[in-house]
Amino acid sequence: MTLILGLESSCDETAAALVTADRAIRAHQLAGQEADHRPFGGVVPEIAARTHVEALTPLVAAALAEAGVSLADVDAIAATAGPGLIGGVMVGLVTGKALALAAGKPLIAVNHLEGHALSPRLADPDLEFPYLLLLVSGGHCQLLLVEGVGAYRRLATTIDDAAGEAFDKTAKLLGLGFPGGPAVEKAALAGDPKAVPLPRPLVGSGEPHFSFAGLKSAVLRARDSGQYAAEDIAASFQQAVVDCLIDRTRRQLGAVEATALVVAGGVAANKAVRAALEGLAAEHGLRFVAPPQWLCTDNAAMIAWAGAERFRAGLVDGLDAPARARWPL
Ligand code: KG4
Ligand code: ZN
Repeated sequence: MTLILGLESSCDETAAALVTADRAIRAHQLAGQEADHRPFGGVVPEIAARTHVEALTPLVAAALAEAGVSLADVDAIAATAGPGLIGGVMVGLVTGKALALAAGKPLIAVNHLEGHALSPRLADPDLEFPYLLLLVSGGHCQLLLVEGVGAYRRLATTIDDAAGEAFDKTAKLLGLGFPGGPAVEKAALAGDPKAVPLPRPLVGSGEPHFSFAGLKSAVLRARDSGQYAAEDIAASFQQAVVDCLIDRTRRQLGAVEATALVVAGGVAANKAVRAALEGLAAEHGLRFVAPPQWLCTDNAAMIAWAGAERFRAGLVDGLDAPARARWPL
């Protein structure tokens, strides 16, 4: 069975995984850098790149050992080639190229967003194209019609911040710590989602896009008013994000033919987001597919899987494949 080694290093997770073309996750190794970045309240690119350099090679060795294979048993090496923090992307891509050259294996330069977009098919063997995907991460907030491997139709995107970025900024404003998304979700459990009146930017709008910058400013005003507990602001903020995501997604469900409603990316780990989307899919009589939480946040299994899908389609890359900070799907 085709075996793919995947490498991920585009933000603050260093990861290596081995995945087969029939969806067996033979190894999954991941080292987060949260402690390195926490003192700065966000990811510091230079620190991230240096930490990837130290962490990646041992993680590759650990992944091979976990699966009980050697590099000679691998059919291809898939590495994230962007978009992301360029120093980190270069570390992963150059490592992938070096391994490919040394072992005489093909290289697959994977778009990180494609990793997120195809990850639901690793989790669910029955998920068929085309599906409507809400891709919500720290850097992106998009609705895509996933028509096939390499065939992504972008239906909507954010005109300012990504949803994950809004979670991270809200956590910082409320002093909830880093990383922001899980901290806001936890605080929201103890708060009232109706306590603070917050805007729902672009909800009901005739255009398809997302916007979260106004919401962040409203959170700042609510905090500075001194009228509200942090838990209530967190719960109200999370509800506002959910309402925006649902409204924009509902608009597309009426307009496209899809086999399922699918969510992926770091914010898809949020239970309130998942539950609301599941309800929306049920309203439309559609299947709802969300990868398990560990597969929503950055990892190398999704990169290996995207590599497996591309390899099957004959899509391999040369050793001159560029690292890209920006790379739209
Ligand atoms: O996909 P990801 O791991 O990295 C990017 O490609 O950006 O997404 C990270 C983003 C961060 O903004 C983080 O705060 C958010 O996903 N996130 C969450 C949760 N877990 C991670 N947002 C809301 N609730 C969560 N439980
Ligand atoms: Zn990501």
